[in-house]
Amino acid sequence: MKDSIARTTALLSTCALLLTACGGGTQTGTAGNTANNTTTNTTATTTTSSVVPIGIAVAQTSNVALLGQEQVAGAKIAEKYFNDKGGINGTPIKLVFQDTSGDEAGAINAFQTLINKDKVIGIVGPTLSQQAFSADPVAERAKVPVIGPSNTAKNIPEIGDYVARVSAPVSIVAPNSVKAALKQNPQIKQVAVFYAQNDAFSKSETEIFQQTVKDQKLQLVTVQKFQTSDTDFQSQATNAINAKPDLIIISGLAADGGNLVRQLRELGYTGLIVGGNGLNTSNILPVCKAFCDGVLIAQAYSPEHPGEINATFRKAYFDQYKKEPPQFSAQAFAAVQVYVEALKALDNKSKVNKLPLPQLRTELNKQILSGKYNTPLGEIGFTPVGEVVQKDFYVAQIKLDKDKIQGRFTFLK
Ligand code: ALA
Repeated sequence: MKDSIARTTALLSTCALLLTACGGGTQTGTAGNTANNTTTNTTATTTTSSVVPIGIAVAQTSNVALLGQEQVAGAKIAEKYFNDKGGINGTPIKLVFQDTSGDEAGAINAFQTLINKDKVIGIVGPTLSQQAFSADPVAERAKVPVIGPSNTAKNIPEIGDYVARVSAPVSIVAPNSVKAALKQNPQIKQVAVFYAQNDAFSKSETEIFQQTVKDQKLQLVTVQKFQTSDTDFQSQATNAINAKPDLIIISGLAADGGNLVRQLRELGYTGLIVGGNGLNTSNILPVCKAFCDGVLIAQAYSPEHPGEINATFRKAYFDQYKKEPPQFSAQAFAAVQVYVEALKALDNKSKVNKLPLPQLRTELNKQILSGKYNTPLGEIGFTPVGEVVQKDFYVAQIKLDKDKIQGRFTFLK
């Protein structure tokens, strides 16, 4: 399947429940300075409603917005799609966006604002596992459901009873790309691994990659560490190249990962490169440019997944962005969908706009975990702890066009 990637503008550089008066809306909001605000809303809210507020706490600024902007796109498509279909049995949803930026404090602020000021029924976010380990406990203490749209580190659902995710974990996704590399080059014997040591997801993913290397009876010739804030990788890249790897595997985020790919190629590395989930965006193209060519990245979504909902999502995304939808957008769509369908199921049992907000959040959390959802990712459900259960996974390879500027994710058979 081809994911046509236009040259992306890089981003480097209810209010009682259900009240119309709720602030937020779909505009970009910035979390206020509420780091010390630990107030938990306990106000019963039984107001006549006109919208159901769902919080979206993802990175709209910082380098992490290379991933977060795709999540905003997917969530907004879901909002329109489900409201066009009647929302929650006639009541529209309203996404309330709070920018988490790229760090833990930003995520905590965004969560607190959504919980206490915007009085959302639940939250989709944050973008990074590194942020989730700090922000999700805030929601857990307030008994507010959280659906992680992209947190793939080990032990995310275990953060608490109110935490689930639609993003399949590194243990399920990551090995697929190493197997694809071996299929393309069965001569691979020596592997160099890089990971960002200041990022929880990257540390979790590299463990899986390193285990996969062992399982495949390959030799791990070096492990190189960096920071997600690094831009110069000359020394680590040189160390790795000196170890003569036939495959290099990178666990990092988009800006650092893209720069590392570029510098490895500039220093003369010609073997295959596997990028982890933090590099899974066409927004790395402006970073590594032509040097992105050939990078293999495992996928938890394919634009070609059959079914009406994916076809509609894919078309809506394509019409707006003139390229195939990426995994981060599809997962954000799926997270909003889980809320919508769980709310509908709950509403059929007891009208959600009659429930006090704390009770609604608790009932909704139970409903989320018990449902099955036919999403653009395929049919998904959850284990009792909130881990996603999903069937289909893929591997894509970045292919640059002849102009060496535009490129696409080509899905491997
Ligand atoms: N999958 C990455 C994470 O969990 C974005 O942080």
